Amino acid sequence: MTTLAILTAAGSGTRLGRDLPKALVDLGGLPLVLHAARRLAASGTVDALVVTCPPGLTDAVQDVVGRDDLVDLPVRVVDGGTTRQASVAAGLRHVPADTTVVLVHDAARPLAPPALVRRVADAVRTGHPAVVPGLPMVDTVKRVAPDADGDPSPADGPRVERVVETPDRALLRVVQTPQGFDRDVLVRAHAAGAGRAAAEHLAASDDAGLVEALGLPVHVVAGDEHAMKITTERDLVVAGLLVEEES
Ligand code: CTP
Ligand code: MG
Repeated sequence: MTTLAILTAAGSGTRLGRDLPKALVDLGGLPLVLHAARRLAASGTVDALVVTCPPGLTDAVQDVVGRDDLVDLPVRVVDGGTTRQASVAAGLRHVPADTTVVLVHDAARPLAPPALVRRVADAVRTGHPAVVPGLPMVDTVKRVAPDADGDPSPADGPRVERVVETPDRALLRVVQTPQGFDRDVLVRAHAAGAGRAAAEHLAASDDAGLVEALGLPVHVVAGDEHAMKITTERDLVVAGLLVEEES
């Protein structure tokens, strides 16, 4: 069984607001993308890596990831697309046909531990074609009506939204990456959802969502708090503390 990981690193990092793509931002002395790649390699369960990167930065990312001694895997860096979904689809085009398991992981989750990578891959290998890591919700979640269906906010007060549902928190999971797939299932899911890939407001925010849209089962394994996503400067500060704790 051959397992390949697609590491998505082609985003611009708008919400972080630095002058370089988020995947190249420094965390404790290393760029996020290298943290993520090292942990994928350290899992011992990944045979090759395809990294998506912003167009024009292929050589820079190949230098950073492909030449790192701790990333002892074949690394191929390819141009990503305009949305995360398009970037994963671009990465998938470089997955050899003899690959059986594909993991999709975000460089924006640089500290996802090797044990989590193994847990996801093992669940795929034991018969689950689509697997996501998930953590229980700590907050209560409310679903609100779309703006057009809600009560209009009074002009002289704060914006209000109408609550339509409070889902049972015990049955909710916050999902992370790496997500793991039987390769053929992931290829089919991206082919079926290809029409959504070009525009951010239509694109799937995770790959499992595309599998669900096909009507195929998706399973959750236990996630890990270290697989937190870096979106803002505050997240980088928290991740910095986790890195310090590790060393
Ligand atoms: N990503 C990608 N291609 C895109 C957009 C995102 O490969 N066109 C990747 C990012 O590099 C990141 C992951 O998808 O590893 C999750 O995306 P997100 O956290 O939204 O990162 P950015 O899009 O870079 O950040 P922002 O939305 O703030 O611009
Ligand atoms: Mg984004």
